[in-house]
Amino acid sequence: MLTKPTVFSAIQPTGNLTIGNYIGALKQWNEIQKKYFCIYCIADLHSLTIYQKPNILNKNILDTLAIFLACDIDPNKNIIFIQSHVPQHTQLSWILNCFTYFGELKRMIQFKEKMLLFKNKNINIGLFNYPILMAADILLYQADKIPVGKDQIQHIEMARKIAIRFNSIYGNIFTIPEKIINPNKGSCIMSLLNPLKKMSKSDSNSNNVINLFDKIDIIRKKINNAVTDSDIPPNIIYDKTNKPGISNLLSILSNITNVSIQNLEKEFKGKIYNDLKKSVIDNLYIFLNKFQKKYSKYRENKKLLNNIIINGSHKAQKKAKITLNNINNIIGLYNKKIL
Ligand code: TRP
Repeated sequence: MLTKPTVFSAIQPTGNLTIGNYIGALKQWNEIQKKYFCIYCIADLHSLTIYQKPNILNKNILDTLAIFLACDIDPNKNIIFIQSHVPQHTQLSWILNCFTYFGELKRMIQFKEKMLLFKNKNINIGLFNYPILMAADILLYQADKIPVGKDQIQHIEMARKIAIRFNSIYGNIFTIPEKIINPNKGSCIMSLLNPLKKMSKSDSNSNNVINLFDKIDIIRKKINNAVTDSDIPPNIIYDKTNKPGISNLLSILSNITNVSIQNLEKEFKGKIYNDLKKSVIDNLYIFLNKFQKKYSKYRENKKLLNNIIINGSHKAQKKAKITLNNINNIIGLYNKKIL
C-alpha cells in the first residue's frame, strides 16, 4: 500500500498571529492536509528561547490550538500536539547536538541577527541550539516535507545536513526532509506601512499588521493608512517591485476571497485605490469576523481542547518512540528491553 508522505510543521505559541501568518502558513497547512499526512506542532519549547511570562505562555498555547481549529485543521486526520508533551524531542535533540558543529550554528542568520539585537548582553544557549531542536522535531517523525516561510529555510538546510551526516555514519536511518515553499502567488504578506518588509507579529508598530483578532474599526483604520503609490492615473496591478503597496493589498484580498490576482486586476481596472481599500476592508471584516466566531467557539470548549491535546500527544509519542528507540540502538546506547 502506498502511504501518503508525512508533512511536519510547527508554530511558536507567542500570540498576536497576523493575517500574514494565516496566509503564509495556516492557510497552506489547511490545503496540505488534503494531500498529505500532517503533523502540526505547537513549539512551546522553542518559544522559551525568549523569556515568556508563564501565565501568558500558558494561555497562548491554548489560543494557538484554537486558532488551528478555527483554520479547519483537522485533529482527527492529522496529529496536532504540543512539543513539550513529547519528551523524545529534547532527547533526540541532545543526540543531534553531538552531530552538529559549533561553526555551523554560529553562521545561522537568525542567530547572528539575535546576537546583534542582544549587543553586548548575554545571549542564552537556547537561541544558539534552536536549529538542533528544530531538526529533532522534523527527524523524529521521519518527515518528508516541511512547509516553512523563507526565514526558516536555513534551519531546514541545517536539519538536512545533520540527517545526511548521521546517515553517512550509521546507514539510511533518517528521511532527508525537503522544504515546501508556499507556491501561491502573493502568499508572503508585507507590512502595511512599509511593504518592502515582511508583516511580522513582533512588529513594534501595530499599524503595520492586521491581527487575526482585529475588529472592524481597527481594520478600517489600518487599511486606510496602508501605503499605496502615487501613480497617475492610479493603476491596480500586481507588480511587487514597482508597486509593492498595491500588490500587497491585492495579495491580501486574493487570499481571503480565493479570487485570483488576475481576476482582481480585471475587476479593479480603471478604479481608484480607495475602491481597492474599501474592498479589502469589507472582505477582511467578513473573513475575520467568521474566523473570530469560530475561534471563540473552540477556545471556550476546554474539554474538546484538552482531548485534542491528550490524543495528539499519544499519537505523536507513539511515532516518536519508534524513531528514538531505533536511534538509541543504532548509536550503541544500552537497550534495557534486551535483559
Ligand atoms: N522555528 C519555527 C518558527 O519559528 C517553528 C518550528 C519549530 C518549526 N520547529 C519546527 C517549523 C519544525 C518547521 C519545522 O517559525
